Formats: sequence, structure tokens, C-alpha cells
Amino acid sequence: MALADNSKIVILGTGGTVAGTSTKVGDNIGYSAAQVGVAQLLGAIEALPAALRGRELLTEQVDQVDSKDMSFGLWQRLAARCAHWLADASVQGIVITHGTDTLEETAWFLQSVLQPGKPVVLTCAMRPATALAPDGPQNILDAVAVALDPGAQGVVAVCAGVVHSARDVRKDHPYRLDAFGSGDSGPLGFVEENSVRWVNHVRKDDLSLEKWPQPAIENIVKSGSWPRVEIVMNYAGASGTTVDLLVRDGVQGLVAACTGNGSLHQDLEAALIRAQAAGVKVVRATRCAQGRVLPKPGDLIGDSNGLSPVKARVAMILALLGAQTARTA
Ligand code: SIN
Repeated sequence: MALADNSKIVILGTGGTVAGTSTKVGDNIGYSAAQVGVAQLLGAIEALPAALRGRELLTEQVDQVDSKDMSFGLWQRLAARCAHWLADASVQGIVITHGTDTLEETAWFLQSVLQPGKPVVLTCAMRPATALAPDGPQNILDAVAVALDPGAQGVVAVCAGVVHSARDVRKDHPYRLDAFGSGDSGPLGFVEENSVRWVNHVRKDDLSLEKWPQPAIENIVKSGSWPRVEIVMNYAGASGTTVDLLVRDGVQGLVAACTGNGSLHQDLEAALIRAQAAGVKVVRATRCAQGRVLPKPGDLIGDSNGLSPVKARVAMILALLGAQTARTA
């Protein structure tokens, strides 16, 4: 086996506001995401060669999308490219430029599927490349600092100088530059002048996630039929109608974005229990921005082990894909 020489950093471009442009200089909201190629984007960051500290930079444009349009197909290609580069002993780490809107879902998908020992750092921007003060260049420099840091491991997200774990990262502001938080777990660390100050550890339950064997990853990457999992939310006056329609339509999994500590309107709960009895996988997550559902004896629907509704959906898709993989192996 080739010895690790850590001589390369790979930056994969997928689009987002970080690569966005506007026709009106300084327009921070009326722009088009995913316009500038990753090589051009990086070429404009004068401080990047110094930040790479002698590492060779490899870049790939994996896609060019506004991340609200994230697809399973792109996740498959991204996982495949990450797996390829992670297996290269000369690669120290990977940075992925990504839109902010679904970054947390991609982070959890990649962490769950790849469980990388090396750092895979997602970064982004809240202002397009044509803004008067774009935040993308500094975020990319900070992401490179994390990818080079010996304490970095697994999939993390970096935005506005803050490092978040894949499990806890969550976009919680639609406009501010520091748009992401880690809820009540707190961030993993901070990037200050190209160096990382770690203040927290990656949670043990993330490190003990079951590592997908290589053939399973290959199946995930190739599978043309991903299970259909939808999210239904509890709110005042909720009913079971959507759930009943989804079950009739062949949904395979449902995540309930519950109020408070996993509570559900009685009509919605009844529909979910019917769905579960009919063989649909059902799980409860809280729609609260912080905390988690605390399970109690007698719960009829399981909880998401602290995952937010969107990440619980990713976990359920992967669990169903895993079951499919096992059946077809
Ligand atoms: C996107 O998610 O691709 C657009 C929004 C953003 O990056 O802030």
C-alpha cells in the first residue's frame, strides 16, 4: 500500500451562492447561484496558494447547481468522487463548495456513507461572488485550513469561521453571513487566521455509525431506484390526510417533524400508526431547532436519535437502501 504523503488537497465544486453572480453589482438576493466554475473561483483567491502550505491543489467540477435542486444523482456522483480521492494516499483532505440551502443534508449523507477518517469539509457562501464583500473566498480559505489541520476528521461544515459537525450543522438563518449553527451541541471549533481552535469533539454516536462496506457504497452510488421517504409536519389543526395519500401513493418511509418532545396531533398520529402497520417505516424527529426527542416507555413510533427531520430522512433513505442492497447481494 502506498504511504500517505498528504501532498494534495482536492476541492470539488458543486455550485451554490459561493459560485453565484448577479447582473447588478452588490445585489445580495437577486443573483443566480452556481455560475462561476470552481477553478475560476479558486483562481481569484490570491491568498489560496499560501493557505495550501505547499500542497498541490486538484479541482473538479462535480456539478453546478443551486442546492435547493439537490438530487440523489448528484449525491451519488459526489460520494463516488469523494470515495475515489479519499482512497488516494497522497490526498490529505477534501473541500467541497456547496450551496447553503441543503448543505446540512449533503453533509449527513456523506458522513453516513463514507465515514471518512480524513477530513471532508463542506463550505459555502451567503453572498454571491459578485457581492461588494463576498464571503466565499474567506470561507474557502477557512475550509482549507480545516482540511490541513491534523485534528480534523470526517465530514464537517465551515462557514463564517465556525466548524460544525455533519450531525449537528443546521442552516438557521436565511440571510446572515453566519447562517449556520450546531444547536445546543455547539460548534466543533473556530478558524482563526488559518489555524483551527477545536472546542468540541465529534460525537461518539457519529464515530460508531456503521461503516458501509465498499460494495454497499458502490451499490448506493449505482442504484437507480432510491426509496421514497417524505417528511410530514405536525402543527395546529394537522390531519392524517397527507399521510393516507402518501401511503396510497407507495411511500416507503415517513419522517414526522413533530412538535416539542415528539408530540403529534391525534389524527396525524393515528394515520402514522396505520402507515407503520401497513409496512411503511416511520420515525419521529422534533421540529424544534434545538434538542432532541426524548423517548419514553409506551411510545408507538420510534425517534430519530437526535437527527433533525431532514437528516432523519437521509438516515431512513440509507437504511432502506441498505435493506435493498442486502436483498440483492
Ligand atoms: C444554494 O443553496 O445553492 C443557494 C443558496 C446559497 O448557497 O446560499
